[in-house]
Amino acid sequence: MSTFKLDSLLGRLWADFTTLNPQAQEIHALLERRGETIVNDHIAFRTFSDPRMSIDVIAAPFVRGGYVEKSHYHFAQKKLDARHYEHSDPGLPKIFISELRLPELSTTAQATIQQLLDDADAETWSSPEVCLCGRPWNPTIGDYEQLAAESEYAGWMAALGFRANHFTVYVNALKTIHSLEELNALIRQAGFPLNTEGGEIKGTPQVWLEQSSTLAPTIEVLFRDGPQRVPGCYYEFARRYPLPDGQIFNGFVTQSADKIFQSTDRR
Ligand code: NI
Repeated sequence: MSTFKLDSLLGRLWADFTTLNPQAQEIHALLERRGETIVNDHIAFRTFSDPRMSIDVIAAPFVRGGYVEKSHYHFAQKKLDARHYEHSDPGLPKIFISELRLPELSTTAQATIQQLLDDADAETWSSPEVCLCGRPWNPTIGDYEQLAAESEYAGWMAALGFRANHFTVYVNALKTIHSLEELNALIRQAGFPLNTEGGEIKGTPQVWLEQSSTLAPTIEVLFRDGPQRVPGCYYEFARRYPLPDGQIFNGFVTQSADKIFQSTDRR
């Protein structure tokens, strides 16, 4: 029964993600036309380090569905903590959840974020699916600009709230594409710009994980005082390598993820 609910949640997360980021659906279709069946490596979520919506709160429905916490990550410069979760069913994606450490922001940014959090309906936080509730607050364009200037991550959260930040194609499962370079070339040729921050490919076989991602296309978001275009969601690509013991590496590489976060930076 819990698996059924999890499938439904994953399906709705994909529907919301592709509505915001139609390029993911196009890339999906492009791969399917080659006869590929896409396996999702992981889904990523973002949140704030407030007890009402911490990583634990976002993870709760997944943990109830059988997911287990595996590793912790820290991003000093971006002021983020993250954890990843895995399910015993290898067909289910890993779940990667990061949170912005609010006490490390300026007092101005903290005050703006507290205002947003207090604006949200208290029932939002008791919903079993906070991860898919969208934006439960209503910032002004000025709030957004001020937060994004200090932390791109805070700006993205203020504008878009709770939803899948990205899904990830598991490159190992592709039959007609044999490297991340090859997939990147295909994506570029199809007209989707890639994140080149720190190089198109983040990571190496030596750290057992290579990743790349599209740049999040901008979307129009309605703020309290009008519409504004902001970076939305992106699609990621991951190729994993076996550890010395022969098991495929299932974790994440902080140095690479740090650059992947910048796929939603304003340009
Ligand atoms: Ni990712």
